[in-house]
Amino acid sequence: MSTTRIVRVESPTGPYDVVIGSGVLASAGELIGKIAEPCKVALVVDDAVGPTYGMTVDTSLARAGYDVTAVAVPSGESSKNWALAGELLEGLASARLGRDSMLLALGGGVIGDLAGFAAAVYLRGIRFVQVPTTLLAMVDSSVGGKTAVDLRAGKNLAGAFKQPLVVLADTDTLQTLPHKEWGSGLAEAAKSAVLDGEEFLAWLERRADAIAPGTGSHTPELVERCVRFKAGVVASDETEEGPRECLNYGHTFGHALEKVLGYGTITHGAAVAEGIRFAARVSMDVGACDAEFVRRQDHLLDALGLASLGVSASPSALLDAMRSDKKVRGGAVRMVLASAPGVWQCVAVDDRVVRAHIDAWASTK
Ligand SMILES: NC(=O)c1ccc[n+]([C@@H]2O[C@H](COP(=O)([O-])OP(=O)(O)OC[C@H]3O[C@@H](n4cnc5c(N)ncnc54)[C@H](O)[C@@H]3O)[C@@H](O)[C@H]2O)c1
Repeated sequence: MSTTRIVRVESPTGPYDVVIGSGVLASAGELIGKIAEPCKVALVVDDAVGPTYGMTVDTSLARAGYDVTAVAVPSGESSKNWALAGELLEGLASARLGRDSMLLALGGGVIGDLAGFAAAVYLRGIRFVQVPTTLLAMVDSSVGGKTAVDLRAGKNLAGAFKQPLVVLADTDTLQTLPHKEWGSGLAEAAKSAVLDGEEFLAWLERRADAIAPGTGSHTPELVERCVRFKAGVVASDETEEGPRECLNYGHTFGHALEKVLGYGTITHGAAVAEGIRFAARVSMDVGACDAEFVRRQDHLLDALGLASLGVSASPSALLDAMRSDKKVRGGAVRMVLASAPGVWQCVAVDDRVVRAHIDAWASTK
């Protein structure tokens, strides 16, 4: 394993490390062995990821003395469902995993959310390790302990907080990541940079053209910066009652777009990129930011290859979806609005203002 970067995440249920770098997968057994005695491990793996990376993790764990049972889960968002979570739990029971066992999630945010949910509820909670293999999972979903499955009524409607024992982010795995999935992670990284503040934002702006898919030389530092930002946010607000709301920047419109277009039509990150463009325009309209901030953020997204989407959707359906967002209070749409790098607030936005911006957005498509 070459040089790794380690970010410590402080959590009320105990601190944990995020280990970032090249060759981390092959050292999984050794790294986990530093914090957990050999035990039974359920290796829950995305079936598109398993053939490429499953054996490396399995072999490393077995060499360190762990008794591994691999469980393959179909790739994609449709696996994040109640029925599959139930099947996974039945599988853990059939394999006789006890309270001293461990569940390891190898894949993107879908596998992390699904397996994390199973780890949170099986025997009222067993130890859990995140091994993210998408940029989105490395920069965002593997950190912070949110786990969930989707219900028919919407995404992530059943879930639990379950902090991992450790997160192992092997940036080599990004070499095989499809281009659109790379872009999806970059959108969350852009969101983090804007929210974190001037230093990270300027760092990303300077490298935006050079941040290449896969294992470009800037990738480990990009992941580290995003994880440091998220670690800081979640340490101050583990259960999303305060500062953690900022992580929803771009998500009010983004989630509405995903819902109206049909989940899976565009990636989550593409929706978030469109959502932060939308939020910046609302922010300028209500006098929270100036035109230069909107231009700067647009320019960053363009430079990262996250062009404005060429999709159309019904304005009424979008408004309706935004009004069913989890941040709604007293029937009012609430949005995270940034006014400058590192400065944001979550505010109620009048329906008429939201509708006018949806109409303006729709007229450009
Ligand atoms: N828990 C949280 O805090 C949080 C935060 C953000 C998003 N999420 C959730 O994360 C999910 C999205 O995660 P995602 O974008 O990682 O999607 P994903 O897990 O579906 O992975 C995207 C695709 O990439 C493939 N893949 C994964 N790693 C690969 C690799 N190294 N090489 C080749 N292909 C690979 C997968 O098979 C899949 O087809 C959503 O369900 C979202 O709700 C959770």
